[in-house]
Amino acid sequence: MKRPSTILLVDDEADFRENVAERLQARGYQILQAGEAESALSIVRENVVDLALVDVLMPGMDGITLLGKLKEIDPLAEVVVVTGQGSIESAVEAMRRGAYHYVTKPVRLAELEMVVRRAVEKTLMSRQNNLLCEERRRTRSRTTAEIVARSSAMRKVLDEAEKLAQTDSSVLIEGETGTGKEVLAEWIHRKSRRSEHPLVVVNCGALSESLVDAELFGHEKGAFTGALESRPGLIEMADGGTLLLDEIGDIAPPAQVRLLRVLERGLFRRVGSTREQSVDVRILAASHRDLTRAAAEGRFREDLYHRLLVFRLRIPPLRERQDDILPLADHFLSRLATGTSRHFGEAARDAMRGYSWPGNVREVAHAVERAAFAAAHAGVDEIEPFHLAMPTSTNSRNPLVSLDEAEKRHVLAVLELMGGNRVKAADVLGISERHLYRLLQRYSGTKSESGTDVEVTGP
Ligand SMILES: Nc1ncnc2c1ncn2[C@@H]1O[C@H](COP(=O)(O)OP(=O)(O)OP(=O)(O)O)[C@@H](O)[C@H]1O
Ligand SMILES: [Mg+2]
Repeated sequence: MKRPSTILLVDDEADFRENVAERLQARGYQILQAGEAESALSIVRENVVDLALVDVLMPGMDGITLLGKLKEIDPLAEVVVVTGQGSIESAVEAMRRGAYHYVTKPVRLAELEMVVRRAVEKTLMSRQNNLLCEERRRTRSRTTAEIVARSSAMRKVLDEAEKLAQTDSSVLIEGETGTGKEVLAEWIHRKSRRSEHPLVVVNCGALSESLVDAELFGHEKGAFTGALESRPGLIEMADGGTLLLDEIGDIAPPAQVRLLRVLERGLFRRVGSTREQSVDVRILAASHRDLTRAAAEGRFREDLYHRLLVFRLRIPPLRERQDDILPLADHFLSRLATGTSRHFGEAARDAMRGYSWPGNVREVAHAVERAAFAAAHAGVDEIEPFHLAMPTSTNSRNPLVSLDEAEKRHVLAVLELMGGNRVKAADVLGISERHLYRLLQRYSGTKSESGTDVEVTGP
């Protein structure tokens, strides 16, 4: 059976405690009581308490100080403070120090009951999320091996990243697709003082405009149709840790304003709530797009852009750091083929060194995976170029062709690598989608239909 939620009542007035205890017990909660702060602390050290209801005015240690100490022992357990009427300052101070809510004396039991229910819900939710993040963190640290950085260009990036890891500044990580933006963000998180707290990754591109606010900032029960329960957002889940806003260039404009407030003040509001909450998160952002252009064209808020841009790390594409290619390939192979003597032959090494890797590190990982599989299937130890099955590129084919032919091969190879996704392929090629569309029409020999060109907008 489920364990009943446990509530600790801390108040020097025994009558008050008894009253509240009776009511809450009737609602199925397990109640613990303390007449002053010190015994409350020992109870919390020895029991799992889901919520503490704390009187502010007590002889000895006051409720606000107790609140801070309780949060140190169990940061996820919520605290509700009980203040005398007219002492709004202590209520505000309590909220500032992380209280979930406050109620004023004389307490109306119905109101108290509602606050208690919501606070306990929040504790249970945070505990659950914490478990998930914890689990995720553990699986991540098992799977994320070290970052391979042999080239001087990449070592410079890591040096810089290491310094930034020691700070709480937000950092913008830029780089083409597959260059390792996410692994670098993870690396920064692991090297930072926040490493014991969660790293929450938000894929901004995958959040629809209607969902982005609720996902990021959370929502209260009834905030919109379908909001049956209140739920913390990703920002709250990252409290104490790091929030990676992946593909930040894709985030909807209204959410950009609210993000700015988180960045500048550490404050946010759940959807449907009037209460502003504070969080302690370090923000990392990643983008494969040119944010400068997006800002200049008005698709990305200038103020957010400037706030993010204070520190930026640019990961060079693999073609600009060729010294990393073979170490990366060896790294991926050793992960896949532990305990075997499978290795790259000289010809395979040459082919890899000579190829431009438009899909960057991710493409190397995939090619190596294919090769290891193919070689294992064929029962050979030495990997040859055809095992790698690299796409037909200008490098691996006869280079004595016209520029037009070379261009065509390259464009088709990139498109194939991007799984036929024209948006991504155009991005890698550094041309507009419309331009790519025209090229593809030309290669296929079909004539452009006049209507299509009018509809497709380009720069
Ligand atoms: N320097 C590196 N050392 C080891 N593995 C790396 C390195 N860089 C990238 N990888 C691996 O390459 C793959 C792609 O990396 P990642 O997902 O971080 O790229 P990305 O820049 O975020 O790509 P995208 O823009 O498509 O999101 C991952 O499997 C990652 O572990
Ligand atoms: Mg990524």
